[in-house]
Amino acid sequence: MNLSQRDKLVIWHPYTQVQGQAGAIAVSHAEGAAFFDEEGKRYIDAVSSWWTNVHGHAHPYIAAAVAEQLSKLEHILFAGFTHEPAVKLAEMLLERLPRAQQRIFYSDDGSTAVEAALKMALQYWHNSGKPKTKIIAFSGAYHGDTFGAMSVSGRSAFTGAFETLLFETLFIDPPVVGKTETSVQQLRSLIDKEKDKIACFIYEPLLQGTAGMLMHSAEHLGQLLDLCKKNGILTIADEVMTGFGRTGTFFASQQVSTAPDICCLSKGLTGGTMALGITSCTEDIFRAFVSGDRMKTFFHGHSYTANPVACSAAIASLDLFEKENTLGKIRHISEKHASCLAEMKRHYPTHAYRQMGTVLAIAIKAGEEDSYFHSIRDRIYTHFLSKGILLRPLGNVLYLMPPYCISDTDLEYIYDEIKKFLEELKNA
Ligand SMILES: Cc1ncc(COP(=O)(O)O)c(C=O)c1O
Repeated sequence: MNLSQRDKLVIWHPYTQVQGQAGAIAVSHAEGAAFFDEEGKRYIDAVSSWWTNVHGHAHPYIAAAVAEQLSKLEHILFAGFTHEPAVKLAEMLLERLPRAQQRIFYSDDGSTAVEAALKMALQYWHNSGKPKTKIIAFSGAYHGDTFGAMSVSGRSAFTGAFETLLFETLFIDPPVVGKTETSVQQLRSLIDKEKDKIACFIYEPLLQGTAGMLMHSAEHLGQLLDLCKKNGILTIADEVMTGFGRTGTFFASQQVSTAPDICCLSKGLTGGTMALGITSCTEDIFRAFVSGDRMKTFFHGHSYTANPVACSAAIASLDLFEKENTLGKIRHISEKHASCLAEMKRHYPTHAYRQMGTVLAIAIKAGEEDSYFHSIRDRIYTHFLSKGILLRPLGNVLYLMPPYCISDTDLEYIYDEIKKFLEELKNA
């Protein structure tokens, strides 16, 4: 049996309906923006391996940092003990994070970073003697798959089986084009009704990934955050996807006039090498947990919290931003996306196009409403795989979010193949 066949007998894959699906492609190795299957076929990773990869696969600088750390200290419990990689990474991140972020709390991935953020916000009010329990989020939001993260995510197929078990969240529309004023108005009326009960507002800044790469206005997001600040509502920027350059700036929050109280990071944090989550917060939030009363402790943590090897990968990834002028590469990809998008818009005006930084999205209009279950999804996926390009569309939304090391040749090959596909649709 080959690896795909052995896999079929023993593995349960995430987000995968086994029935009617081809087996998993067995990947043997990866390099730069590409990975290779067992037969040696090359695929361009146009979605950065679930939005995690930053500088390219198997980057030798990150590999060396990880190897060195592995032979020095692979893991140590993080209560009562600390180590150089955790402290150094915190120092490096605090220099880059939005204003007023002063403390780093480690966890395992994006979902746990969100869980920690929500618990931090709720316990902040509990510890301050002004308990508040309501949470505001954007409709269509995606913050992860654990119960708290699901509760603050839009209700969808992902959450359907658990609906009655999720805690109530107050949803407002994100300030997308045509809904900017509605969004601000919805927040105002929630504040009028529930002001003293609202603990926090959690949001994906500027770009809602899983919702279909939906982009909203930085100006109006700023207005929402101002309203929250004026009314004692903590703000939580979920930068799990938007962090580390995806939207053109190091963090999306840098494009917004008002800074959040709490930030969640993961995915690109380790350059896409291994799992690590971070929840950062202001000194004010941290201080609410410092007390002679032990019941005010933040009783949250995971066995692998601040794993030294993962922290070393993250430090190496941050180094590479400087060493390889990664922000320059991000600008270059953004410019190339913009000119490709302008051309596609001219030739194939039926579809909806969006771009922010290194993310280019095309909502294919093919006779059905936009949906995660759009029938064109599988066709797009298999078509581009056959061309050696991994695009994993969100329903009918095809998007590119490449590693920043992608070559012009690979990018142009992807653009050309997308144009050919749009041409096929046009002539169908
Ligand atoms: C904005 C956002 N938050 C949280 C998560 C959850 O991250 P993880 O899959 O690492 O748990 C995701 C994952 O896609 C995400 O896009």
